[in-house]
Amino acid sequence: MNVLILGSGGREHAFAWKLSQSKKLKKLFIAPGNAGTADFGSNINISASDFNAVKKCVLENQINMVVVGPEDPLVKGIHDFFLSDNELKDIPVIGPKKDGAKLEGSKDFSKRFMIRHNIPTARYESFTKDTLKDGLEFLQTLKAPYVLKADGLAGGKGVVIPTKLEDAEIELTEMLSNAKFGDASSKVVIEEFLDGIELSVFVLTDGNSYKILPSAKDYKRIGEGDTGLNTGGMGAVSPVPFADEVFLEKVEDRVIIPTINGLKQEGIVYKGFIFIGLMNINGEPFVIEYNVRMGDPETEAVIPRIKSDLLDLFEGVANGNLDEKTLELDNRFVSAVMLVAGGYPEEYKKGDLITGFESVKDSIVFHAGTVLNSERQTITNGGRVIAVTSYGNTMDEALKKSFSNAEIIQYKHKYYRKDIGKDLRGYY
Ligand code: AMP
Ligand code: GLY
Repeated sequence: MNVLILGSGGREHAFAWKLSQSKKLKKLFIAPGNAGTADFGSNINISASDFNAVKKCVLENQINMVVVGPEDPLVKGIHDFFLSDNELKDIPVIGPKKDGAKLEGSKDFSKRFMIRHNIPTARYESFTKDTLKDGLEFLQTLKAPYVLKADGLAGGKGVVIPTKLEDAEIELTEMLSNAKFGDASSKVVIEEFLDGIELSVFVLTDGNSYKILPSAKDYKRIGEGDTGLNTGGMGAVSPVPFADEVFLEKVEDRVIIPTINGLKQEGIVYKGFIFIGLMNINGEPFVIEYNVRMGDPETEAVIPRIKSDLLDLFEGVANGNLDEKTLELDNRFVSAVMLVAGGYPEEYKKGDLITGFESVKDSIVFHAGTVLNSERQTITNGGRVIAVTSYGNTMDEALKKSFSNAEIIQYKHKYYRKDIGKDLRGYY
């Protein structure tokens, strides 16, 4: 089989690494990919959201399956584009159609979906410019901190959590009246603050049956001790020590099954990943959000824990017989520590030479923001640069390897959080 992966991050490098181990794989293509994905296939320099360029690439390279990494092409309807094109309609796309992708593309839609299907989530209301006054009144009924979410995609920046009522009022006005996040904030979800500990659960589904993939914990803030600005994610660990069997059973019964059944009932044929952002509040799961793709850097900790052939599982998704496939997991702990560019998530430089790869032992180096220069050297090309992934029989052992190899990889102004996993010490 020839497979095309869309995207360019650590998530896509982890997919490429895993798919390249499949006996079913003939040729792998990654668009646009990064310096790391080039080790496993051919990088095609097109944007994942340029559907006509994707079509050309699929036909030229006799692609038999497309695996979509990021949300943007899904929300814009790449799967629908394939289904409506005579030359592409029989080529399976791993990732939902536009109707399913709304679970991530519209916070208002996803909250309504959760309410319709009785899925536990924070109490909320939605407001537009015309109902700003009601929104300001609703804020008064809530306790601090206040959670304000731009309805549409805002590059991971659309959630603001002010601690003071005055700040929440200013923020809501900015979002609705001054289009702070453009169109994405023409509608705003205001919800109750959930006080608990966060984790992510991942599901792969063919629209009928599903497999629960390993869960993970992500570290979103730039600073140690979860301080400073939000990022795409500074590291991840899997499994999550506080997500024990009892908790995960509650997640399956109260969240996963109603989600899959809800999609079916609403006539949404969903083929792909569902990433469920959860808050564990005293052992009870509440959904914070859905994403319609895998997480990054969670993928760099989750995929290495899958022993089964990922391409075989994807075939199950495409053919609707995922229930006939087995999912075998590696019981070891996996940690992924993200190395970022100095200054990220604010302004940062690109183009710095990265060295030390050959000295890394006992870790997998997944590239994120990297590219090969004209001399085929690897240089930085994004805010999040490299994920250093390691296995361990204990969480500490995995983290120790990731941290020591994080020191070995060198580039100017490298930064990483040295406290990934530390908050979990009490749990393992
Ligand atoms: P989201 O984009 O919905 O994942 O929100 C980004 C982050 O904001 C989440 O990962 C949580 O850390 C936080 N967050 C979102 N909603 C809530 C909530 N209702 N209560 C507490 N924290 C939240
Ligand atoms: N790491 C969070 C995300 O992928 O959305």
